[in-house]
Amino acid sequence: MEVIRTQKELKQLIEKLRAESKSIGLVPTMGALHAGHISLVDKARAENDIVVVSVFVNPTQFNNPADLATYPRTEAEDCRKLDAVGVDYAFIPTVEEIYPEPDTRQFDLGPVAEVMEGAMRPGHFNGVAQIVSKLFDLTKPTRAYFGEKDFQQIAVIRRMAEISGFDYIDIIACPIKREADGLALSSRNVRLTPEGRKAAPAIHAALEASTRYAANHTVAETIASVIDEINSNPELDVEYYQIVNPLTMQPISNWAEAPDSTAVGCVTVNVGDVRLIDNITYKLN
Ligand code: PAF
Repeated sequence: MEVIRTQKELKQLIEKLRAESKSIGLVPTMGALHAGHISLVDKARAENDIVVVSVFVNPTQFNNPADLATYPRTEAEDCRKLDAVGVDYAFIPTVEEIYPEPDTRQFDLGPVAEVMEGAMRPGHFNGVAQIVSKLFDLTKPTRAYFGEKDFQQIAVIRRMAEISGFDYIDIIACPIKREADGLALSSRNVRLTPEGRKAAPAIHAALEASTRYAANHTVAETIASVIDEINSNPELDVEYYQIVNPLTMQPISNWAEAPDSTAVGCVTVNVGDVRLIDNITYKLN
């Protein structure tokens, strides 16, 4: 695997690969790689001639400076993992390389970015749009791979791609990977205390149980049951739980509003100072 550090080198490489008609799979990451990331890489490896993985902790998407400061950074280990699974190129730029000047672009991301994470983390999705649009522009991928743990982020990236002329890129959503006890894999999990780590699987357990509960309860009752169940654990504090239309990200108040009888429940839980997100699909027939 070759490590690329500059935009110039990446652009030159991509020009050459495109001249050779190679298909390019891009996996954008912020590093601290785990089996969830590797599953995206495996899919990209199976579907493309060339796989590029970016490793960049993007400051413009952090609305909380403490979260940015404590975000795990494990470059050497990340490179070993990427090399082992057959990645061709890792793009690992510095902040100065990506943002020689402040990025002042404001994306019109619309209603998908206004709720849930968009409401709780002002500016977060604009920062995601800034970095992903830069990566798309530099890499011009055939396909780009994102994990469904960040369910709303995928809708935001689709919107950014639509309004920014990246309609030639196939954006591929990949299923959440979990620990054996149900905890969704996340780079932030390493920051959990032993007590927090022990409590955290209760998040997925509550979401799972709610898919059965939903069969004979209203949306409001289902939301309340999930929040009560998670908050019954003293280590866990629900920031929000919403059940949304999976296309528009808008909250539904009635199961009949779910397109194709499918809705998605999205949760954010604070476990001490670690913010975990997860989601579950409700199939209503
Ligand atoms: O999901 C992430 O890790 C990040 O938001 C992404 C898409 C790599 C952009 O920095």
